[in-house]
Amino acid sequence: QRQRQTPRWARQIIAHDELESTNDLAKKLLADGAEEGTLVLADTQTRGKGRLGRSWFSEKGTGLYFSLILKPALPREQHPSLTLMAAVATVEALQPFSPHPITLKWPNDILLNQRKLGGILSEQVLAPGDTVSGVVVGIGINVNQTRFPEELAAVATSLYIETREQPERSDIFSFIINYLYKYYQILLEDGASPILSRWRQNSRMLGSSILLRQGAETHTGVAIDLDAAGRLVVRLNSGEVRAFDGGEVTLHPG
Ligand code: BTN
Repeated sequence: QRQRQTPRWARQIIAHDELESTNDLAKKLLADGAEEGTLVLADTQTRGKGRLGRSWFSEKGTGLYFSLILKPALPREQHPSLTLMAAVATVEALQPFSPHPITLKWPNDILLNQRKLGGILSEQVLAPGDTVSGVVVGIGINVNQTRFPEELAAVATSLYIETREQPERSDIFSFIINYLYKYYQILLEDGASPILSRWRQNSRMLGSSILLRQGAETHTGVAIDLDAAGRLVVRLNSGEVRAFDGGEVTLHPG
């Protein structure tokens, strides 16, 4: 068995009752030279951010909102694999808390019973000269919310809503931190391919028909795989096979 180092992270956890966004504070700390593994945690966010410019509902005391600072020795084009790594770690850490499967929807939605249980927002921080000084991986999990605002009620869910159990957020947090450490080491030592295969195992969407919106464009087809760079490979209805590196997927449209 290989020797693993003690986690270089979670040595420094910066916890706040309230922040605008844990990602924003983590980016600032990274720019100021914070160590890899520094974690920023908030009990609520007043401007929690989601992908594609959306906001992230961050009710006080019921969800988990945190950001991890990474400084991976990976070429920049492999940085998308960090988000997939975090998605795999999170879904596997959450699974023991639910009798129903928790699954991944590309690129990084965490679903339970077809609704969104969590999401991941990774942001790069650039140093002068356009080199990457690090990446902030922000994770939001709906744990003990009993309800969501009306506009989210059809699409969002929490562990409590689905299981009627109220897990301790700190238990879930430590599971996720440990899995993140494990899969980060695997990514650095063995590359993206074990992460991609875990991602495939934890996703139910490969083989499904999908609709993908990217900016003003809409594409329909069948999701067939992830490629080595973590892009979603789709067989479009026209027969063309194309890899997408962003966008918003709807499963089983129409
Ligand atoms: C998404 O699915 O759109 C991504 C959601 C990411 C939310 C988390 S909560 C902690 C961190 N801080 C933020 O402002 N956003 C991320």
